[in-house]
Amino acid sequence: MPSRLHVALSLSAAICLTGASLAKADGITVYNAQHESLTQAWVDGFTQETGIKVTLRNGDDSELGNQIVQEGGASPADVFLTENSPAMALVDNAHLFAPLQPATLSQVAAPYRPAHGNWVGIAARSTVFVYNKNKLSAQQLPASLLDLAGPQWQGRWGASPAGADFQAIVGALLEQKGEAATLAWLKAMKTNAQIYRGNSAVLKAVNAGQIEGGVIYHYYRFGDQAKTGENSKNTQLHYFKHQDPGAFVSISGAGVLASSKQPEQAQAFVKWITGKGGQAVLLNGDSFEYAVGKNTPSNPRLVPLDQLDAPAVDPSRLDSKKVAQLLTQAGLL
Ligand SMILES: [Fe+2]
Repeated sequence: MPSRLHVALSLSAAICLTGASLAKADGITVYNAQHESLTQAWVDGFTQETGIKVTLRNGDDSELGNQIVQEGGASPADVFLTENSPAMALVDNAHLFAPLQPATLSQVAAPYRPAHGNWVGIAARSTVFVYNKNKLSAQQLPASLLDLAGPQWQGRWGASPAGADFQAIVGALLEQKGEAATLAWLKAMKTNAQIYRGNSAVLKAVNAGQIEGGVIYHYYRFGDQAKTGENSKNTQLHYFKHQDPGAFVSISGAGVLASSKQPEQAQAFVKWITGKGGQAVLLNGDSFEYAVGKNTPSNPRLVPLDQLDAPAVDPSRLDSKKVAQLLTQAGLL
């Protein structure tokens, strides 16, 4: 006859085993703020190769970042993927990320990840000035993003300040030029710019000639061109280069939550995205975002990353709270 203690021990062992195998069958939960089609392609490739199931909860950068901070150690998220770095910094500042494996970090070139290794870059996107070819000649283009604050640009350009993409650009401007200059630029933007909801809406308005140009990320035009070109046929992209604030390259990030009950699977997912398979999705897919893996080429249709002459901005320092505060102060939110 087994003792009562023995029964209790085997029972708890059995419960533990069931718990572990159930969790394994359930896989991981990813809070995803990247474009859904890109993340779905990553998930499909990862699950096919590893058999690990991934459940996605989709939202935007600040919404999901704030949700993770609020949930704290009780968050059901195993992994967080963002479109831009500020939401990564938000979660990291709350000390909610586990360090990533060195093998994952070493797959990504140093400019595309923070030095501390609590999260890593998974893709990159360039700020551009999209303009209507029938309205602006090359000579009339702004030399700097900062020029768009001048009175000559009143009513002629647009942007989507409520979006995470534009807010990352403002975060970089804040890092480079400081609070006073950023607030002054945003106040001028309030006077000068037409406000749209989403970068696709800005692209459409430029294409239709409602405005002459707009500040967006590069892939919106590439994506439209790869389809019908209907919303971009009258447009062209202007890259600011010269380390201008308008040449900012924003980094999409991935991190594993320290509270994850499936840390090995979560780490494996981030390793896969930054590895050959995940980066090939950027090379061959229709996201038109840049690959950031070492020795991984980007889509050959894009202007190469190393020709963009982007300003050096530490992605771990982008301050989403301050940006929201300044946008509100300028009347843009
Ligand atoms: Fe976007």
